[in-house]
Amino acid sequence: MWQPFPGNQHRLIGWFAYLGTKRLKREVRRVTFYSIQRHRLSNMSELAKTVTGFLAVIYYWIESIVLFFVPVRLKAKDISGELVLVTGAGNGLGRSTALKFAEKGCNVVLWDINTKGNEETAAMLREKGAKAYPYEVDVTISEAVYSAAAKVKQDAGIVTIVVNNAGIVAGKSILDLEEKSIRKVFDVNVLAHFWVIKAFLPDMLEKDRGHLVTISSLAGLGGSPKLTDYCASKFAACGLMDALQIELHADGRKNIHTTVICPFFINTGMFNGATTRIFSNLNPDFVAEEIVTSVMCNKSLVLIPRFFHALYQLKVLMPARSFLALHDATGGTDSMTKFTGRNSKKVQ
Ligand SMILES: NC(=O)c1ccc[n+]([C@@H]2O[C@H](COP(=O)([O-])OP(=O)(O)OC[C@H]3O[C@@H](n4cnc5c(N)ncnc54)[C@H](O)[C@@H]3O)[C@@H](O)[C@H]2O)c1
Repeated sequence: MWQPFPGNQHRLIGWFAYLGTKRLKREVRRVTFYSIQRHRLSNMSELAKTVTGFLAVIYYWIESIVLFFVPVRLKAKDISGELVLVTGAGNGLGRSTALKFAEKGCNVVLWDINTKGNEETAAMLREKGAKAYPYEVDVTISEAVYSAAAKVKQDAGIVTIVVNNAGIVAGKSILDLEEKSIRKVFDVNVLAHFWVIKAFLPDMLEKDRGHLVTISSLAGLGGSPKLTDYCASKFAACGLMDALQIELHADGRKNIHTTVICPFFINTGMFNGATTRIFSNLNPDFVAEEIVTSVMCNKSLVLIPRFFHALYQLKVLMPARSFLALHDATGGTDSMTKFTGRNSKKVQ
């Protein structure tokens, strides 16, 4: 029988193991040496900070596992009486989210370019007994955002929860996308979030209380065909919120929370025709309920439906070609083949 190391295999394996261990020891020594240099662990207070930091990592990990099993009603914060701003509230997910916040006893400021839709949402909220403040605002125009924010403060008071929801999609292959259309997608899906956050964060800092929510998408965590511009803008929205969360943490702002929502396709009309073989599209009411619950539980990243959290972890662990094969198997590769969208909402 053929043997890789005839006769001497034990000695050779031992030799490789010895070399491997030696290399490993050398690497560990090198990394430790650089860490000591870079992080000045020899300084006792820096060392204490590092050790308590690592202990906190373990503590919060255990806390999140325990909280997973605690019922929502026991861990959710009370948001009744809060003033919530929802952008893109004149239709779809924005409308459903505004209604869910109203059901929790919040008053809601509604921003949209679609005045008629926005007024309809306001009427629905008032029917539920909530105060509704509809405004026609194009969130891509920074000056319009700042002056509308000042008016909101005068008319309704200080906004404590902001939901950056307005979004658009073009649904074309990269070579069919016009430059103007790409810029517009970025203007609405990510740059507008900067203007809105800059308008409302100062009051939250002043009160040392608030919650910033961004509706991104699963397309903000993984690619999809015919969505290069949309995915890039939604990845950017996730990046903005990730960095902002750390910035607020570094500033010691424990009472200003951030939440990023990444849903699968929702039946609002925006992604008409888009679907996959395995997963069915979501109902906007269900997504809105998840958004409000996530805010009440101070969750920072929420994938809807939740089992996509597992796929998201797999993406990091799987080889790229396996992940592409997974797209083929689930129908993700063809998800946009029959996309028509809602023509009036398509980028001109
Ligand atoms: N529909 C989906 O399948 C899906 C999936 C994942 C994420 N999302 C995201 O959810 C959010 C809501 O999507 P939807 O499905 O409810 O879309 P929608 O088209 O039904 O509603 C979007 C609303 O935003 C408004 N809007 C657009 N541009 C605006 C601007 N410049 N200023 C102010 N308002 C503006 C529109 O008038 C509309 O009322 C978007 O950010 C979208 O990217 C949607």
